[in-house]
Parts: sequence; C-alpha cells; structure tokens
Amino acid sequence: MNTDKLKETVARLVKPPKGILAIDESFNTCGERFLKLGVPNIEDKRREYRELLITAPKIEKYISGYILFDETINQETVAGKSFVSVLQSKGIEVGIKVDAGTTNFSGHEGEKITKGLDGLEKRLKEYKELGATFAKWRAVYRIGVNTPSFDCMEKNAEIFVKYAILCQKNDIVPIVEPEILIDGNHTIEKCYQVTARNLDMVFSKLRSANVFMPGIILKTSMVLSGKDSRDKSFTEKIAEITLKCLKEHVPADIGGIVFLSGGQADADATMNINEMHKMGDLPWPLTFSYGRAIQNPALESWAKNPADVSGAQKLLLQAAKNNSLASTGEYKYKA
Ligand code: G3H
Repeated sequence: MNTDKLKETVARLVKPPKGILAIDESFNTCGERFLKLGVPNIEDKRREYRELLITAPKIEKYISGYILFDETINQETVAGKSFVSVLQSKGIEVGIKVDAGTTNFSGHEGEKITKGLDGLEKRLKEYKELGATFAKWRAVYRIGVNTPSFDCMEKNAEIFVKYAILCQKNDIVPIVEPEILIDGNHTIEKCYQVTARNLDMVFSKLRSANVFMPGIILKTSMVLSGKDSRDKSFTEKIAEITLKCLKEHVPADIGGIVFLSGGQADADATMNINEMHKMGDLPWPLTFSYGRAIQNPALESWAKNPADVSGAQKLLLQAAKNNSLASTGEYKYKA
C-alpha cells in the first residue's frame, strides 16, 4: 500500500470547490430512471447519455471525480475516444462502483447485505489498469421498527473492511458508502440514532482492521426524516443535526466526507450542504458525490430532446456549479 498515493488521490477528490459526480447507476437503476422518461434501457442509449455527461465542457471546474459503472468504464465516445481518456484529459479522477448490489440478509427479513467480494481483487487490478484511482461500495439500511439490526450493521461493516483493505492494497481509494435510506416515515431523531450507531460500527471495524484512515472517504446520507414522515425539517436543522452526528461519530483523521443525495429534492441537497459549510469549523473536507441531484435536469432535457446535447450539458454544468458553490457555503438559492 502506497499511503502517499492514497492521500494524494483523496486530496484531489475533496479539494474545494469541487465534488464528485456519480454516474454509476446499475443496469436496473438506470433502467428505472430511463423508463420514467420513456427512454429504452439499451446499451446504446446508456452510452449516448453517459457520453453527454462525460464530455460536458468545463465540468472539471466543479467536478473532481466521476464514479462509473462497469459497462461505462469500458465505453467510448462516438468519435472513438475512451470515456476514461476524456476524463483524464480534463484532470478528472476516474472512480468505479465495485459492489454488485445487494442481496437478502438471511434470517433478517427486509434487510440487505452487499455482495461483490468474489473476484474483487482481480477486478480492482483490471480497473486500475484502465485508469481507476478510486472505488465505491454501497450498503443500504432501511429504518423500520426493528431495523437496521445489529447483525446487519455488523455484517455490512465487516464486508466494508474486506473491500477497503483490497482497495488500499492496490492503491485505490475506497469510498465507503453506508446509506440510510430516506424511505419510511421515521423522524429525523430516529435517523440520527440509526446513522450514529451505524457509523460507530463501520469505523470501529475499519479501525480494528488497521484500514488507513486518511486514505478512505466516507460517502454518507444526510440525517433526514423519512420521505413519508409528517415531520419535515428545515435546512438549518438538517445541517445542524447531520454535522453533530458526523462530528461525534466519524473519526477526524479520515480523508474526507462526501454526501449522496438519496432522493432528496435537488435544491434541498444543494442547500443542505451549503448550510453545513456556513456553519463552518469542520474537521474533515466535506463535499458532494451526487448522482440524481446533479443529473436530474440534464437527464430530463436529454430524454425529451436527445439531439440537444449542449442544452442538456448546460443544465448539468449549472447543477454542478450550484453544488460547487454550496461546497464552500457560497450558494445563493434563486427560485
Ligand atoms: O450510491 C449512490 C450514488 O452514488 C449517489 O446517488 O445522489 O442519486 O443518491 P444519489
């Protein structure tokens, strides 16, 4: 493990005023998003859409890294340039989702564990050869009366450890993404408790396995009430409770923290991170790693009018810029 190399990659990824763009939707997730907009989920359309995202002019002003999906890391532009080379020519780090989705956690109804450890080291070496410098692994936890259970949190944390060790051994920065889902009617306080317990579990396992803390990035959900909850919190409350949770349960020596948007309204995701930066005094670099909250306007525009690539790219750039401003607390909301 080359600790300097890991730290350098982390520093490039979380350097203000930039954040990460996630375009790593699996076949199914991409299909769901396309279906809603009437786009067929076929390889050619996925390639065409991702070309738009990858070739957006000047996106490198706001985006430090792209997280790709296995299919995408191997694709090319219509002009025959590999997507990886386009990103590299803009100084953008290439990331790759390496988990293989989730599976039912046996004996624990409704709970999931993440799969993909089989053959992971071989895949990491191949991705590194292709140009990847960082990876992402996501686990999901649903808040219910008795979930997430201790066992589910422990099992996913143990899997995170195996993934993080293999990544670091291969000089690839692991993004560890424990996502507490927004689904449900839980209160923000319940989300705080669950997030706190889970972060304690994840970091105690990573620490005991001697994972190199400055060489990892945490990708986390914000502390939010469930999307079906009547208790709707304002930006200030979300920012305050999220920062409290992170400051109390995330070690100060990790490389950085990035947020997923997780199904929040695009503007909320932007304003919440902006507010956190206005509150200031953060022990780690803190920025975004959004998928939907940056892609949504561009995807909708392209689905309606695929020929207007530059129109969709302008929308992408605007969303990336808004979040870049938010990542330093300088975003001003315009209705
Ligand atoms: O794993 C989730 C993605 O990387 C982030 O997606 O911002 O749409 O939740 P999201």
